[in-house]
Amino acid sequence: MKLAILSRAPRAYSTQRLRTAALDRGHDVKVLNTLRFAIDLSGPEPDLQFRGRTLSDYDAILPRIGNSITYFGTAVVRQFEQMDVYTPNTANGISNSRDKLRATQILSRHQIGMPATTFVRNRADVPAAIERVGGAPVVIKLLEGTQGIGVILAPDNKVAEAIIETLQSTSQNVLIQSFVKESKGRDIRALVVGDRVVAAMRRTAQGDEFRSNVHRGGSVEGVTLDPAFEQAAVRSAQIMGLRVAGVDMLEGADGPQVMEVNSSPGLEGIEAATKLDVAGAIIDYIGNQVAFPEIDVRQRLTVSTGYGVAELVVHGSADLVGKTIAESGLEERDITVLTLHRGTSVIPNPRRRTALEAQDRLLCFGKLEEMRSMIPERRRRRAKVRKLPKEPIHEA
Ligand SMILES: Nc1ncnc2c1ncn2[C@@H]1O[C@H](COP(=O)(O)OP(=O)(O)O)[C@@H](O)[C@H]1O
Ligand SMILES: [Mg+2]
Repeated sequence: MKLAILSRAPRAYSTQRLRTAALDRGHDVKVLNTLRFAIDLSGPEPDLQFRGRTLSDYDAILPRIGNSITYFGTAVVRQFEQMDVYTPNTANGISNSRDKLRATQILSRHQIGMPATTFVRNRADVPAAIERVGGAPVVIKLLEGTQGIGVILAPDNKVAEAIIETLQSTSQNVLIQSFVKESKGRDIRALVVGDRVVAAMRRTAQGDEFRSNVHRGGSVEGVTLDPAFEQAAVRSAQIMGLRVAGVDMLEGADGPQVMEVNSSPGLEGIEAATKLDVAGAIIDYIGNQVAFPEIDVRQRLTVSTGYGVAELVVHGSADLVGKTIAESGLEERDITVLTLHRGTSVIPNPRRRTALEAQDRLLCFGKLEEMRSMIPERRRRRAKVRKLPKEPIHEA
């Protein structure tokens, strides 16, 4: 394949390792400076120029977009997507992971363990926010920090309030998170490639520092992960839309607590700690996937009038429980089941003989009108406000 590594650091360890791994496997590979692209929307088709010239045809890209150029970098990646060039990490995935709040919001409905987190803007809401995550000590984080910069441990509520107020007064957005004490200055970095963890390490903070980032002097050792950690890492990366990711997790009392998902994970620390060929695994994965560029499925499937995708939920009381997909009547109504989500597992292309269980979620393609009646009513988290009685209320 012909691969472009998008990076502003051609000499960095990770870029060099990826380039060498691609060459060793007989691929044609170039490292292209992300900032030298021009997004060209002047012709009949989306195009890209590089250093002022029309870009030659690439089969795949591997974006290594630094934090300081997220906007331009993701625009370049999105342009490659429009040109049907394969990328393991989509522009959406990269933007989603860049902002710690956005990432936490996206992961929050998927039963992934995360430290309790809250986000407020008004000073008056800060004390209640601190209480919501369990009170001090709390961790305060700048939304877009990296390398441990902008992550602060506040020992008591007053200090926490003062720090938050100071940061907000300089227009910095911060999130407030419960401090996972039991992880004791340690965390796990899992390198996810596709649907597996290819390497993992434990990082331990120096001295009484609580941040275990290597840039903060943390030391590293390779580890074999428990299945719970492996699953949390792979699912987090998948939900974020990243096929190559570094997932950071704390070792909480009740299992993995995902903190962040990095879309351009560094390879030096993890390859040194584990002696594993992570770069090779990434290149092999891209080589295998290159025929499958990202497709906006929902958009493409909605093109025929009246057809679209919807998620149907099997209710406990409904008559679908215990029936197979063949017996469910969906086929007769021209509805195809694409995937079946059961708890945290997914059955792709479920067989007709698969029996349905209560709470199964079916991702379906079909006539929207046929599916409308089967879409669950919007979940209400709280009791509705009571309706006024028909008769006016008279004071006694
Ligand atoms: N809620 C928390 N409880 C305990 N330690 C934490 C918590 N959040 C972060 N840390 C520590 O601080 C480090 C940096 O936090 P992280 O959110 O990953 O920010 P960064 O993007 O700067 O790496 C983590 O690797 C971890 O060691
Ligand atoms: Mg981190």
